[in-house]
Amino acid sequence: MLGAVLASLVTLLAVPANAYFILSHPVLETTRLDPIVTPGTVGGHMHSIVGGSAFNRTTTYESMIASKCTTAPVTIDKSNYWTPQLYYYDPSDQSYTGIPVAFVNTYYLPRPGPGETTVKAPPKGLRILQGNPFRRTFNASSFDDQSVSFVCLDYSGAHQNDPAWAQRNSFFEHNCPDGLRAQVNFPNCWDGVNLDSPDHRSHMAWPSGGVNGGGTCPPSHPVHLVQVFYEFIYNTGNYPFNPAGTPTWVFANGDATGYGMHGDFIAGWEEPNGVNVLQQAIDGCNDNNGVGGELQNCPPFVPYINNAAASACRPENELVNEDNGVGHKIARLPGNNPLWVGTGPKPSWPGFVDVDTYVSPTSTIPTGYSRTGCIAEGTSGRALTGASFSNNNMTRGACVSWCADRGFPYAGVEFGRECYCDTQLRNGASNTTIDDSQCSIQCANNVNENCGGRSTLDLFYNPAKTPTNPTPAGWTQTGCYTEATNGRALTGYSFAANNMTWQGCLDTCQAKGFKLAGVEWSRECYCGNSYSAGAVPAPATDCNMPCSGDNLHTCGGSRRLTTWSFGATASKRDLSARRTTLRDALEQ
Ligand SMILES: *[C@@H]1O[C@H](CO)[C@@H](O)[C@H](O)[C@H]1NC(C)=O
Ligand SMILES: *[C@@H]1O[C@H](CO)[C@@H](O)[C@H](O)[C@H]1NC(C)=O
Ligand SMILES: *[C@@H]1O[C@H](CO)[C@@H](O)[C@H](O)[C@H]1NC(C)=O
Ligand SMILES: *[C@@H]1O[C@H](CO)[C@@H](O)[C@H](O)[C@H]1NC(C)=O
Ligand SMILES: *[C@@H]1O[C@H](CO)[C@@H](O)[C@H](O)[C@H]1NC(C)=O
Repeated sequence: MLGAVLASLVTLLAVPANAYFILSHPVLETTRLDPIVTPGTVGGHMHSIVGGSAFNRTTTYESMIASKCTTAPVTIDKSNYWTPQLYYYDPSDQSYTGIPVAFVNTYYLPRPGPGETTVKAPPKGLRILQGNPFRRTFNASSFDDQSVSFVCLDYSGAHQNDPAWAQRNSFFEHNCPDGLRAQVNFPNCWDGVNLDSPDHRSHMAWPSGGVNGGGTCPPSHPVHLVQVFYEFIYNTGNYPFNPAGTPTWVFANGDATGYGMHGDFIAGWEEPNGVNVLQQAIDGCNDNNGVGGELQNCPPFVPYINNAAASACRPENELVNEDNGVGHKIARLPGNNPLWVGTGPKPSWPGFVDVDTYVSPTSTIPTGYSRTGCIAEGTSGRALTGASFSNNNMTRGACVSWCADRGFPYAGVEFGRECYCDTQLRNGASNTTIDDSQCSIQCANNVNENCGGRSTLDLFYNPAKTPTNPTPAGWTQTGCYTEATNGRALTGYSFAANNMTWQGCLDTCQAKGFKLAGVEWSRECYCGNSYSAGAVPAPATDCNMPCSGDNLHTCGGSRRLTTWSFGATASKRDLSARRTTLRDALEQ
């Protein structure tokens, strides 16, 4: 008996099961595009889309692999994966609210048939639409009907053995506190020839094992591919559940049953240096090396794993110019999609005319400004201190416009809703860029672009926007100076004001007959005819505080003065002459 058990273990070890891989994504975008079903134009209903950032209304394998980033944690997977967006229906005002997708898992499940040792990666650009948005019923003997299912997430475990909470093929009759998981199994037998077909499905078939992808492929579709499987997790727990008889969840096409759930897939794996990394992973990684869905346990993927880049990834191409309703109410589902309850034909709006306009995913940056990139905050204070605001209206464009209106050449957005402006980078900050993945926080008013990160800024600069020099006639700038060894550098007269400007300080010193002037700590003005002992030139970067009354200009720093001297030849020569005089005076 024991011998038999050992023998079967040995057999298991000799033929290890191929490992599966899970790619966990944040959502890339939510828009009414579908390059498989309605290429080049607006799609029938709203989709949640993950994968390569170059997703567009027309998409090819070549355009996909040119994506700047991907929401997949493996940077070479530029595939796109999408499903209909789910909405909460509010019967009190018949409105719809898009239920945010918490995250998406896309699985690659190698399920070789008898006598096979492995399966094939999907061919480049393979397209599949699985499921049927028009289906209203469930046929338990149909693999296609079985391919779509739902899981009600309840981490409390309170309903573990309750059949009303078990996985099913339509919506539940109660809420799902930790989310509704919508699932699609894709057919994995390929005809070996066509990357697509008129119904986007006939070039694929189920193996004998059905929706779980195993068994043998039919002779018409002989190529056994790795099986793709989706889990889209919707945050249903944050929305109410309506009384029995009133729909709560509605897919973007109006479907209130859930049977119309479907998934779209376009294969867009890059092959760096001609190497099919996905195939290497399918062939080379197995349960014996403890893969268990974890990418880092599969060596071919390791050089390409980058979770930070996946979180920071945003769309590159135009979206449909309409409100997708995610997280807030909209009066109608976008497109011709009235609420569709029951088994009758799909209703439509009388005289419906669709939109056909598109909008950039990013805000408009004022002319003259360009993005330097992501930079780190200053080491001893903020990089930009001239002016700032924080507001939920933040986009990159809103910040740059605000700084531009105030005359600043530099604008930086940080932490999603903060905007900083200045004439220079201060406090140890520089325009040396760091990886864009460090600036990964979505703008408060535009989920499709990033507004910096934690202590990082998306920096914009307009070199033409140099503030004019407001130094009054007769005065010459003499640089940044330290305070004296004992006491002040300039001791003739001083005042402080919350409206300090260069002009205000210099006019005052001139009126009082002084030939030297300096401003310090944003709001202090000092006049004199000579510098006290120990007051010496300091690095220009030490004078780093904007004037309290004119934040386009610098008024000294901490124990540092921005200085001027009056008279045409005011210069080092004057200063050394004065020092000589001072020394002569002391020596006498
Ligand atoms: C996106 O699709 C539009 C419409 O088909 C096309 O004109 C445009 O060139 C595409 N953009 C990219 C970057 O592929
Ligand atoms: C249910 O599906 C099976 C398998 O595809 C099919 O043979 C049968 O005709 C279907 N039944 C109905 C009522 O459509
Ligand atoms: C954003 O809000 C700020 C005030 O916090 C305001 O000054 C600015 O004009 C607003 N910008 C836009 C684009 O609404
Ligand atoms: C970065 O700063 C350096 C020196 O301050 C400057 O020469 C360069 O043009 C700046 N680059 C950008 C992109 O702003
Ligand atoms: C600054 O404020 C003072 C006191 O309120 C006022 O007298 C002075 O004119 C102001 N100066 C400027 C330049 O606005």
